[in-house]
Amino acid sequence: MEQEGLMRSAPATGGYDLPDPLTLPEEGVRPPIVVNEILRKDAVPPPANLLEDPHNTLGTDPIPASRYFSEEFFELERAKLWPKVWQFACWGQDIPNPGDTHVYRIMKRSVLIIRQRDGSVKAFVNACLHRGAELCETHTHKAELKCPYHYFTWGLDGDLKWVPSKWDFPQLNGRKFNLPEVRLEEWNGFLFINFDKDAPSLETYMGRFAEHWKVWDFSKRYKAVHVQKRIQCNWKNGLDAFIEGFHAFASHGQGASVVPDDCSQVDIYPDSPHMSRFQIPMGYPSPRIHPAPPPEETFEMLCAGFLPEALGTEEGRIKPGEDSRAASARIARLSYEKNFGISADKLSTAEALDAISYFLFPNFMPWPCLSFPLVYRFRPAESPDWCIWDTMLFLPFSGERPPSAETIELGPDDPLEDIAALGGLALVLHQDAMQLPSVQRGQQNLVDGNLMLTEYQELRIRHYHKTLEHYLGLGKD
Ligand code: FES
Ligand SMILES: [Fe+2]
Repeated sequence: MEQEGLMRSAPATGGYDLPDPLTLPEEGVRPPIVVNEILRKDAVPPPANLLEDPHNTLGTDPIPASRYFSEEFFELERAKLWPKVWQFACWGQDIPNPGDTHVYRIMKRSVLIIRQRDGSVKAFVNACLHRGAELCETHTHKAELKCPYHYFTWGLDGDLKWVPSKWDFPQLNGRKFNLPEVRLEEWNGFLFINFDKDAPSLETYMGRFAEHWKVWDFSKRYKAVHVQKRIQCNWKNGLDAFIEGFHAFASHGQGASVVPDDCSQVDIYPDSPHMSRFQIPMGYPSPRIHPAPPPEETFEMLCAGFLPEALGTEEGRIKPGEDSRAASARIARLSYEKNFGISADKLSTAEALDAISYFLFPNFMPWPCLSFPLVYRFRPAESPDWCIWDTMLFLPFSGERPPSAETIELGPDDPLEDIAALGGLALVLHQDAMQLPSVQRGQQNLVDGNLMLTEYQELRIRHYHKTLEHYLGLGKD
């Protein structure tokens, strides 16, 4: 079923292609609109953290493209990155009852996450201590952890309960033989694991990320959509496409009348190597469109996305004193009240309308805004050329918590644009999915072997590469 209250109106074709051949002037000067100025004028102001504009940059050094396709680099990541970092494994409400399991796989490792009888959650290395069979292969429910191969059995808490032909294992006499645990911590309903017993706590690892997110509580959100897709690109190419807005005009031109691209804000902090964010304001057109579309066009496109039934009514027009952004935020709030049954009048314009993306290195990308209630995750699959891409939508609810949505699994050739539950996002994600395998192929042909990033708009990519270098022992720090 198509998801109510999400952006639904993106046209399937069209957009604002630049003239070919190009006749526009060089874009040598940063456009005058800055996010902070927009947010400060909003009728309902944002939380203070969204007004921070640290404007840190990290230079313009090239990034070696081989990091995205070399087997050696992939092995380095396997050995030195993934065993050391906190990684998003599971939404806690996916396993609400004692005995509910989730299996999280990362680069040949497998972790069994299981809800305990007291409501807490434990994570175990997902391998039987007899001859190593996986104790659980999928999301399911278990009364105990019985290995299917010879029936060695452990309790939900990992304590050994039964040994087949115990007389034949004299070496077990007096040994506990419990399942080895993997570190697990919960944050805002999300479960994170870390293989490193000496790693700092999740909160310390998060740094400023945890500080910023104190104002965003997911206890009243539920996982309404989960789409998982195998895609032929390095996990970092997937990640890169979702932590910059620079590609929006070219790749998602259908949104150019509602997104002032070139004006996004990109934030990193020197004291938080694992966190970055962008803010892309909505409700004004791209400065690249000449002549600029009238405010009504911008508003009506957003209105058609949030609350199409309002078009042609009093609510579906820009009111005196409003501009296209203010009117769009009003309609967005109305749609949340109608579709989610929540009170949204105090929701800031930015949280109601904008694209706000946070990243916790290496695999957690939650968006706190209601306009794009997204959580993304990219993980490496079996080789540098393949990854697993999760897209989740977390919607507010009133009354009883709805159950988490079942995961829709898509193969490399299954189109995302057919997933009605994603609303208007389906086309946007489809456009990204079509692009990424070609990026993966093309990078291997670069003559000088380097990627040349923007200094500011692609800063988040450069930032996590520095963090990656640190884990892999490549940095100059
Ligand atoms: S491998 Fe698990 S019981 Fe034998
Ligand atoms: Fe995109």
